[in-house]
This record gives sequence, C-alpha cells and structure tokens, in this order.
Amino acid sequence: MEIAVIGTGYVGLVSGACFADSGNRVTCVDIDAAKVEALCRGEVPIYEPGLEEMVKHNLSVHRLMFTTDLASAVEPAEVVYLAVGTPQGDDGSADLSALWKVVEQIAPHLQKDAVLVTKSTVPVGTNARIYGMLKELTGRDCEVASNPEFLKEGAAIDDFVKPDRVVVGVRSDRAADVLRQLYEPFLRTEHPFLVMTPESAEMTKYVANALLATKISFINEMANLCERMGGDINDVRRGIGHDSRIGFAFLFPGVGYGGSCFPKDVRALSAMATDLGVEPRILLAVDEVNTCQKQVMIEKLDKHFGGKLSGKTIAIWGLAFKPRTDDIREAPALVLIDHLLEEGAKVQVHDPEAMDNVRKIYGNKITLCDLEMEALAGADALCIMTEWNDYKRPDWDEMASLLRAPVIFDGRNLYEPERMQSRGFTYYSVGRPG
Ligand code: UGA
Repeated sequence: MEIAVIGTGYVGLVSGACFADSGNRVTCVDIDAAKVEALCRGEVPIYEPGLEEMVKHNLSVHRLMFTTDLASAVEPAEVVYLAVGTPQGDDGSADLSALWKVVEQIAPHLQKDAVLVTKSTVPVGTNARIYGMLKELTGRDCEVASNPEFLKEGAAIDDFVKPDRVVVGVRSDRAADVLRQLYEPFLRTEHPFLVMTPESAEMTKYVANALLATKISFINEMANLCERMGGDINDVRRGIGHDSRIGFAFLFPGVGYGGSCFPKDVRALSAMATDLGVEPRILLAVDEVNTCQKQVMIEKLDKHFGGKLSGKTIAIWGLAFKPRTDDIREAPALVLIDHLLEEGAKVQVHDPEAMDNVRKIYGNKITLCDLEMEALAGADALCIMTEWNDYKRPDWDEMASLLRAPVIFDGRNLYEPERMQSRGFTYYSVGRPG
C-alpha cells in the first residue's frame, strides 16, 4: 500500500518504519527540514532500540522516504496517517492546532478514496470534527478513522509488530477493511483487530492510559502507607498479584510516573470532563498523587540531612522518565534536580542515554558524568531515579569507597533492604522497611 505519515515524532516515525518494513511504500512528512534531512541520511533523532536499523534498511530498499513536501506525499497515498503532536495546552486540554493546520493543508491533495487516520491522541469527537472539516473543504464524504497507538517508549517496535490488540474507530466497513489489510502482517489470533466507532476508539486510548496511571498512583499511595504502617510493598504486591483479578503488571511503586503520555492524557481527560460539567474525581486524585510522589524522595532527603542540603553533593543515577529511552519529559529526576539546585546542593548525574537532553536544560549547573561510578565521587548520597539495568548489580565496595557517606535513596527498589544494611549502607527505598 502507498502510505503517508504526517509528523515524524515518536509515534509517526515508529509507525512509518514498521509499515515500510512490512512491505508498504511509506513517505513520512515533517515541517522540520533539518530533521527530515537527517532522517534521509538514516539518522534517527530519538533513542529507541532497533529503530535506526529499521529506518536505514527501509531507506536503502526505497520503501521509506522522508520529505517536507506534504502535497507530494499525500497525493499518491491510499492511507494518510496523522501523527502530529497534541501537546498539553495551558488549561490541561490537548492543543490540536498542529492537527487542524495539517487537515487544512492536506484536504486539496487527498485522493478520493484515501483513508485519513488519526494516530495522535486526540479528544473524543475529534474524528467527527475532522470529517466535518474535510466535507466543508472538499465537498466530499472523506473516509476518516481513528487508530490509537499503544506503544511504549523503549519497546516501541516490539509493541508495534506484536500488538496486544489493534483498535480502529471507523465510519464505514471499507475503512475497516483497508486498515485490517494494513495490519494483517502483525495480527495473531490472540491479538485481535477491534472495530468500533471513532468516539469509542478515541476514548479507549484515554481510558487505557488513565487506568495505567491510576494503578501507579494507587500502588504509590499504598507504598507510602506501608512505610508508615510497617508493611513491605513488595510482599504486598505478591500478596495481591496472585489474585488473577488483580495481577502484577504496572503495580511497581516508584518516584511517580513521567513521560509525554500519562501526565498529559490524564489531564486532558480531566479537562474534557470538567468542560462537560463532570468532576473527574479519580483522575484529579491520580494526577495529584503523582505530583506528590515526585516529592517523596525529596522529603526523605530533607529529613536525612536535617533540611540542610546546601553545600552537599548529591549523585543521581537515572534521568530518563524510565529505562531504554532518552526521554526526560516530566521525568521525576528533573523535579529532584530543581530542588537540589534551589537548596544550593552540588549535583552529579549519570544516565546511559538521556544526558544530552539534560544538558540542554541545565548546561553546566550540574556535573554530567560519563560513567555511573564517576557521579559518586565525593557525594554525600546517591539517589536512584530510573531502573536502568546498568544500576542493578553495582560494585558495592567501589561505591562505598567513592561516596563520602554510604547513603542511598532508591526510588525504584533495585536492592534488598536487609542486604544493603549488611553491606553497610544507609538505604531508603519505596514502601519497604528502611
Ligand atoms: C505509555 C503507555 O504504557 C503506552 O501503552 C502508551 O501507548 C503510551 O504511554 C502513549 O500514550 O503513547 P510510555 O509513556 O512509553 O507508554 O511509558 P510506560 O512504560 O507506560 O511508563 C510510564 C511511566 O510510569 C514511567 O515513568 C514509569 O517509570 C512509570 N511506571 C510504570 C511506574 O512507576 N510503575 C509501574 O509499575 C509502571
């Protein structure tokens, strides 16, 4: 099939590369000329395992193209994917200005039978508005569909080629058939292709992310209670997870969720509800608990140092909002760094992938270390913010000799409290006896 993908952000780039890899001819469009030039050379601007290799291979066999020329990409396309950003606006709602602009620009170039598919996360009702807008601009009933994306950063390719399910929201059987054909190579019996209305598909995306965020805020609150009441959240997690109605997934306590999706989508769904005069009580609580969770480690640090962080050196391992990505959007580590700098502490950080992005924010206000052990030199404590594998089996003796004091604040529960005690560390973790 001939496909155009508008927007080469995370979702657009991964979708474009995977559709090309499964035998389609895909042209990806972006307004950022420098980015397009780099992509034409096979240089991928984000860190995502396997993506660069896939882009390079499909460029070389001419199944994947990049351009800034919207018209030339859209004109031959049987399917046009919209994957432009829908960032959070000032009031928490999704900002759709980029999307409307693109719809207006592509309208005169759309083939009569083309299916226009939204992959960007958009408020419920957006597909209907796109349909109305295209009718006005072209005078035709255009095929529009919603096909929300459920991929996780760091595992995006795997998620795309082996989706748990594919959800499409369509207005006609033809649009469903076109999309089914496109996804055929990725579907298995146990991974269904679910057809519904555009509104249900749009809502599915928000509900999935809101529920996952709710699980995290819930377990974080329970972990905080365990700390006060004496339980160990790891044991509690095992205790509840074996109940098949509950399960184990997405119930790891930590320093709060970050990234470009959960915070934005929970707030956008809240804003939609509020607009309709409905108080989204659970969503508001999920967001508030998460904001507070990003402070929990800070409170522990303040308590440990008696509120005197000024002049202290604090090491941080992990800056990305989660492992296997260089993404630092809404990362809990940034909240910690801001606090430490405000208090006059010296900050030494390490992350296997996210250092360039952090450098862009803090410049030389913090020390960026190429090796994790370098970050510990002379530090009064270590804070672990991201559970990179690199941090799971450190050399304890080297750590103890580098740190000025053997104190660890572990926001991801990487180590066993009892063993840490016997290794001579003062060890704080989340929801476990300290
Ligand atoms: C999330 C969803 O998982 C994807 O299904 C969805 O497609 C995507 O958003 C999106 O809307 O585009 P992602 O933001 O890549 O994917 O990251 P997750 O792996 O879901 O992690 C989000 C945050 O939750 C991270 O900060 C992570 O550390 C935290 N988390 C996750 C926990 O604190 N505990 C857990 O048990 C799981």
